[in-house]
Formats: sequence, structure tokens, C-alpha cells
Amino acid sequence: MLCIPLVSVLLGLVLTLTSSVSAIGRTHDQAVLTSDMSTHNLPFWLENIKHQGTAPFNSDADTYQVFRNVKDFGAKGDGKTDDTAAINAAISAGARCGLGCDSTTTSPAVVYIPSGTYLVSSPIIALYLTQIIGNARAPPTLLATKSFNGLAVIGINLVHANPYIPNGWGAQYYINQNNFFRSIRNVHIDLRLVPASAEATGLHWQVSQATSLVNVVVDMSTEKGTKHRGIFMENGSGGFMGDLVFNGGNIGMHVGNQQFTVRNVSVNNAATAVQCIWNWGWTFQDVNINNCSVGFSLATGGTTADKQGVGAIAIIDASIANTPIFIQNTNPTSSLAGSLVLNNIHLTNVPIAVHTLSDNGTVLPGTSSPTTPLTIASWAQGNVYKGTSGKSEFVKGKIPNPRKSEELLDHTSGTRKGRLFGRGHPQYEECDVDEFVSVKSEGAKGDGRSDDTQILQGLFDKYSGKKIIFLDAGVYYITNTLKIHAGARVVGEGWSVIMGGGPAFQDVKNPRVMVQCGERGSKGFLEITDVVFTTKGPAPGAIVVEWNVNSHVQGGAGMWDTHIRLGGSAGTNLQTNVTNSDLLSNAAAYLAMHITPQANGYFEGTWIWLADHNLDGKTDQVSLYSGRGLLSESKGPVWLVGTASEHHVLYQYYLNHAENHYMGLIQTESPYWQPNPPLPAPFTFDTSFTDPDIVGQTSSWGLVVRKSKDIIILGAGLYSFYSAYTQACINSKSCQSQLLNVDSESEGVSVYSLSTVGVTSQLSVDGQSVIPAVQNLNGFADTATFWSL
Ligand SMILES: *[C@@H]1O[C@H](CO)[C@@H](O)[C@H](O)[C@H]1NC(C)=O
Ligand SMILES: *[C@@H]1O[C@H](CO)[C@@H](O)[C@H](O)[C@H]1NC(C)=O
Ligand SMILES: *[C@@H]1O[C@H](CO)[C@@H](O)[C@H](O)[C@H]1NC(C)=O
Ligand SMILES: *[C@@H]1O[C@H](CO)[C@@H](O)[C@H](O)[C@H]1NC(C)=O
Ligand SMILES: *[C@@H]1O[C@H](CO)[C@@H](O)[C@H](O)[C@H]1NC(C)=O
Repeated sequence: MLCIPLVSVLLGLVLTLTSSVSAIGRTHDQAVLTSDMSTHNLPFWLENIKHQGTAPFNSDADTYQVFRNVKDFGAKGDGKTDDTAAINAAISAGARCGLGCDSTTTSPAVVYIPSGTYLVSSPIIALYLTQIIGNARAPPTLLATKSFNGLAVIGINLVHANPYIPNGWGAQYYINQNNFFRSIRNVHIDLRLVPASAEATGLHWQVSQATSLVNVVVDMSTEKGTKHRGIFMENGSGGFMGDLVFNGGNIGMHVGNQQFTVRNVSVNNAATAVQCIWNWGWTFQDVNINNCSVGFSLATGGTTADKQGVGAIAIIDASIANTPIFIQNTNPTSSLAGSLVLNNIHLTNVPIAVHTLSDNGTVLPGTSSPTTPLTIASWAQGNVYKGTSGKSEFVKGKIPNPRKSEELLDHTSGTRKGRLFGRGHPQYEECDVDEFVSVKSEGAKGDGRSDDTQILQGLFDKYSGKKIIFLDAGVYYITNTLKIHAGARVVGEGWSVIMGGGPAFQDVKNPRVMVQCGERGSKGFLEITDVVFTTKGPAPGAIVVEWNVNSHVQGGAGMWDTHIRLGGSAGTNLQTNVTNSDLLSNAAAYLAMHITPQANGYFEGTWIWLADHNLDGKTDQVSLYSGRGLLSESKGPVWLVGTASEHHVLYQYYLNHAENHYMGLIQTESPYWQPNPPLPAPFTFDTSFTDPDIVGQTSSWGLVVRKSKDIIILGAGLYSFYSAYTQACINSKSCQSQLLNVDSESEGVSVYSLSTVGVTSQLSVDGQSVIPAVQNLNGFADTATFWSL
């Protein structure tokens, strides 16, 4: 999976490189990454590619600078100079969205940090719509000074101390549930100069959808009684993070958020690896914990919304070693609070697997053997259901294993055997800048107005499989189907936007694909990173993304940090309510994303969002219409890791004749205006897409599974917060009657850790309620721990 036209001269180089790049992730390698690494002199392509990205809808579009290298703002990275002000200057230059600004799509920034050691004395504030990217070949170190003053080395607000203690001062810039579009990659944060007695934190990461952490290492003090923390997150509505390493500290991850997906995290030598404050549902996939006192500490026991505790945790594929307790519940769990799912867990010298703090009781013993691992195949605490029987059984014990096809599992041998396959955001660090082609250098405008369809198509025809196609920051307007061929690698810059509009996308009776990824039946690679797909409204006949490509290499076809964002932002023409009865004049799409039968794919962090409120200007709510969210008919393998789909009319996720899907965690919301008018208005049922047409349903489905096989849903947060814009229905669980339907012709469907809000029935079979939410009260949400067909 190296660069395609790799010159053989480079090959030797690549091999050295790969070994030192992985040094950052090596759990046993806790040495500070110094700037004399052998790779230091090898430039990362992002540093050297011509920077000509623009923000066309910015009020100062002609001069606004998207890419910022911190060294151009005076940072030295020499391990001696305090670089805090310079890095913050790089982030805040131009009119950025900070205090007093809820959100933006018009002032993006890519803040690049070359290799080196940067002294930091107070927080680096990652403003809204910022990507902070370190050199992926030799990640920079942010070294907190001895007298570091602030909550975290990288934060999202100006918080100079703990905002929740009386004398702490700081400011919350953003509404936590609306804190979208941010990413931090390839940074090493070192807290070890800060006294262990200070509550120093690596990252304050209080975020929502379309956010990611990728390849981040935090080194902390290992002194007895250390107060250091890797991440602190008190709220939000996330989100995805992955490829993380925490060494030392009191707590690796100190986290509370509605829902989140974490993939590939290692915690070594911390007192508590992961401390969960509250949530409705979190999924952890691929976890390694070594030499901690407690693996997961869960604040369980809150049964009411105002005393929200840890609602639901699902952990799949974990190795825990030399740690006295793997999981610790604060309070005894009951069917009313604290759902837990464990799958494929290996314990080595972990005497207690599950423990309860308040009554000092072992719920599940582990093993004291330092050599022979104990495997927990599938275990749960919570309410378990089967088939069409609505009978719940409260278990603290074994539950059935999901049917996991070989195709979904990692094919490398060794310790990863049996784990789900995962692949982090490709960054092409092994590629030379010559292997990229910039679409702007080749004539594309990206100015949000000019029609770029033909020029982009020409470039995709010419360069797919030959060059990595760099979509310089900008908004590329297209007026007909754009074909991204198999073999293409497409890289955006701070979320480059492809926006379709015009007559081609108007016919609701004849919907047309806007971006076609591979043609039906095509095979090969196709990788898309850091791109947003949107439409210029109205576009009631747009199928925004059609995914056809099939890669025989696992994870070779996929999208990372790539989103579908419809309406609610500058340039989309969809920022106000309609004033007439033609609701389709406020339609943003017919179908947001379609994975077709022969395709497969890996999608990490993808957010498929029809705006419920405006991101630019006044952030008021807005009634927009998108017919359908994600439809998959793929036979797999399909991995949906940390994805969400929100506010589409008929469904958020629909699996039709699909097979071999892993979905963890999925999050949905129904449109706020439903059931006024009821579904499928303003669209009509379409038999060519086998639209689910289940009698009595007036609000959108979160998930429909039809005639499908071997589907694993590991964590779902399916929410209905409104009925015709009113919220009284949340407490009475009556915003809608049902939102997850599986038909009885499907087989091998397993749903774990299902949390719902505002809905009467959590799961239905053939349109008949099976799981009444009242059986599963769990704080603000209701959680059914396991259901299978
Ligand atoms: C997990 O993350 C580490 C650190 O970034 C990385 O070296 C490793 O390749 C990742 N593993 C997988 C399976 O993604
Ligand atoms: C969560 O986020 C909001 C900002 O939306 C903040 O004002 C609030 O106090 C936060 N903290 C907690 C603990 O709820
Ligand atoms: C285990 O963790 C403790 C506490 O952080 C530390 O003192 C000890 O050196 C660690 N052991 C190993 C083998 O890393
Ligand atoms: C908890 O139980 C264990 C084993 O019975 C015992 O050794 C330990 O002292 C107890 N801890 C507390 C705080 O009661
Ligand atoms: C659109 O209508 C909704 C529901 O009446 C209202 O809450 C919202 O403020 C309106 N938005 C705008 C932009 O007028």
C-alpha cells in the first residue's frame, strides 16, 4: 500500500522510514521522540506541497490563508524556545471562529507542525474547524514546561485552570453538542517536566461529530500519586478517535460524552487506564492495557437524567495485562443502570475481570496467571433479548457470540488474530511530494462558483492509479456526475468540499449520482480522506455518493474523516425555511450515500448529516429535507467505525440484502419536524430502492435491516429528540413509536449496547415492537444490552 509509482531508489528509504514512523506507536518505546530521528530530514509531503487552498465563502476570501506552518509564525521547535504564542498565532490568524462564534464552515485552518520539540507553557487552543497535523514521518513533540499553566496542552477553549472549580477561569466557546469539524494528528505530548502533583492534561477534547484524534501519544509522570491525565472530555456528542497511546499518569482517558467510538488505544503504566464519567453509549475497539491498577473505571449507578452515570460500554478485542482489575463499576449495576458488553477479551495477570467498588465485590473473576491468558468470549451485564420474544433476562454472565465472518477479521497473525480489522486514516507519509498532483495546479478553480465538473473529471481520468490527487482547500462546484475511478487516492486539505448543484440534480423521479466512487463492478483501491460532499440546493434528485468499488485488500476501499454535510452552510443555498408549500424546494438530497451490492468498504468517522441548524451566521434551526441516509446493499465486508447519520426523512441507515457488516458505534437522529408532515413526505416511496414502507411509521427509521445476514452492531445511539419541534415527548418516550426494525428474513443479526432516546419501542421485528424502552431505563437514554436474531 505504498505510493503507486514508487521509484525503486526510494524503496530503501521507505523501509527505514516505516520502522521509525511506527516508533511513536510502540508501547514499549517510551523514550521522548527527539528531533534527531533518522527521518528528520525527510520532508512530509504536506509540508512541501504548494499551498494554494482557499476558503471561497470567507468574507475575506482573497487573502484568507488555510494552510499555516507554525514555523512561519515564529515557532522554533528547538526544545528551548517557548513556542506557545507562535503556535496559537498560527491557529488564530485571519478571522477564525473562537469566543462568540458557535460554528463556521468558512474559516478552515490546517495548522502544520514540523518535526521538533516545541516548548508549551499554556494551552494551545484549537479553534473550530482546525486540523492540527504534525509531521507524520517524525511526529513533533509538544513539551509542556515545568510551570505549565492551564487545563491541557491542547484545548478547544481558553481554559487556564479547571473550569469547574470556583476560582478556575476560562470560557466555553462552543455548545458542546455542536462542536464539529476538528482533527489532531501525529503529535506527541510530553507532560513529564510538569510536577506529578499538578493536574496536567494532554488534551481537553470536548467534541461532537466529524472530529478525530489520529496517532497521538501522551507521556505522563509515573511517580506514585501522579495527577497527570492523557485526555479530559467532560461532554459533547462525538465522535471518533484512534491510534492513541498513553503512558503513565493517573488517568489515560478521563471521558464523558453522549457517545463515542475509540479504535486502537494503548494505555501503559497509568493508575486508571480509562475513567468514564457519563455517557449514553461508548464503543471501544482494539484496546491494550498494561501495568495499570484499573483498566476501566465506570461511574455507574445514575438512573435518572439529572444523575446521568455511565450508561453503556461495549468493548471488543482487548488485551489487558498486569492490571489487578479490568473493569470496575462504581455501584452495583442493575437492569436500570450500567450496561456492559465484553467481546474477545484476553486477560493476563488480571485477577479480577469485573468488580464493583461500593460493595467490594467481584462480579467476574479474572486470572492471576502471568503466562496463560484467560479469554472472555462474550459477556454482558444488562438486559438480554432474543428473536421476537419481548421477554428480558437480566444477566451478569455469558451471552452468545456474534457471527463474525473471516472477512471482517484482521488477517495478520500474532496478537491481532481474531480481532476485527482496522485501518487508520492513510496519510501517505511514505510518499514523496512528487507523487501528488494538485487539482488547482491543473486548472480546477474550487471557488464555489465556477463549474469544475469537466476539469476534475479530466484529472480523475488522467491520474487515478497514477498520482495521489490533492484537492487543495476550496469548494469545487460540479453540475453533473463526477466519477472517481477505482485506483484513485483523493486527499483533501482541511475538508475540501465537492458541491453538486444545478438542473442535473432536480428530478426527484430520476435521481442522479453526484459523486460515483468506482463504476458498478469495478475493483481496486479507492481512498478518500478529508473531503466533505455537499449539494447546492435545491437538489431533490441528488444521490450524493454512490460507492461501487470492491477492494480485495482489506480496507483498500474506504473513506476517513470524510463526511456528507447537507444544507445549513454558506454556499448551499439552504439556510432558511421555505415559505410556500413546496418543501422539495428545501431538499438537499434524494439519498446521501449508497453502497451498492458488489462494493465493499471501510468507513471511519463518516458523518452523514442533513443540517438541523445553520453552521454559518445565525445558528438557528432550519427545516431541510433529505430523502434517505445511508443505504447499503453490499455483501461485505463493510466496516462502519464511528459513523453517524442524521435527520434524513425515511431512514438514517438501511441494510437491504446486506451481508458481513460491522457497525460500531452508529448514531442517528430523526428529523426534528417529523411527524409533521409524516414520512415519506416530502418524498414518495421508491420501489427501485426498496424503501421501507412499514404501516404506521410516521417518523424516520434509525436503522432498518432487511433480508440481510451476519450483521454486527456493536453500539448504537438512536435518538428521537423532537416531535414537530417539541420536546415534551422525550420523557414520555413518545417522540416516535419505533425506530429500529429487523425483518424475520434476516439472519445472524446481533445488536449490542443499543441506547435510544424518545422512542417507545427500542427494536421491532417485522414492524412489531419487541423491546419496550420502559424495561431499560438507564439515565437519559434507555439501553438494551443485547438482542439477536
Ligand atoms: C494502532 O496505533 C498505533 C499507534 O499509532 C499504530 O502504530 C498501529 O499501527 C495501530 N494499529 C492498527 C491496527 O491500526
Ligand atoms: C458542558 O459543555 C457546556 C458547553 O456547551 C458547558 O457550558 C457545560 O458547563 C459543560 N460541562 C458540564 C460538566 O456539563
Ligand atoms: C508499572 O507501573 C508502575 C507505576 O506506574 C511503575 O512504577 C513500574 O515501573 C511499571 N512497571 C513496568 C514493568 O513498566
Ligand atoms: C476488598 O476485598 C478484598 C478481597 O476480599 C480485600 O482484600 C480488600 O481488603 C477489600 N477492600 C476493601 C476496601 O474492603
Ligand atoms: C424554521 O422553522 C423552525 C420551526 O418552526 C423554527 O424553529 C426555526 O427557527 C426556523 N428557522 C429559520 C431559519 O427561520
